[in-house]
Amino acid sequence: MIKVRGHQIQQVFLNIISNARYALNQKFSRAHTNKILDIKGETVNTNGNKYVRVIFFDHGTGISSAILDRICAPFFSNKPFGEGTGLGLSISQAIIKDHGGNLYFDSVEGEYAKVIIELPAATEEYGEEL
Ligand SMILES: Nc1ncnc2c1ncn2[C@@H]1O[C@H](COP(=O)(O)OP(=O)(O)OP(=O)(O)O)[C@@H](O)[C@H]1O
Ligand SMILES: [Mg+2]
Repeated sequence: MIKVRGHQIQQVFLNIISNARYALNQKFSRAHTNKILDIKGETVNTNGNKYVRVIFFDHGTGISSAILDRICAPFFSNKPFGEGTGLGLSISQAIIKDHGGNLYFDSVEGEYAKVIIELPAATEEYGEEL
């Protein structure tokens, strides 16, 4: 269980999924067995704290190491003019940080991209919304 501002986390998920969709459509113009986005959730313990980790794993274009440290910068986009504002990941990272979580990446260019989110697990009973 996690205690979050639901609309904000929806916004984060939507951006990550639409980035994955774009990368898959760039790599595969039609149906393909590798045209998949795999989303998995698990709980992890880091230094005695419990987190819910969600991994978005797409087999699209991947992210080159040359830009990996810049993709969360405001207005950074590799998409053609008019297709992306470059705000998706910068807003997403701010939202996750604001929830006490982490957002990071693992990718091999041309092979895959993984976007990993960790959010602190709820410690008390589920109460009213934040
Ligand atoms: N799953 C992914 N696979 C490949 N590249 C990615 C992936 N996710 C993000 N990127 C790269 O990171 C850049 C920044 O992503 P971000 O979501 O911040 O902006 P955007 O998608 O370009 O625009 P916006 O989200 O504002 O419409 C993208 O332009 C793309 O180059
Ligand atoms: Mg985006």
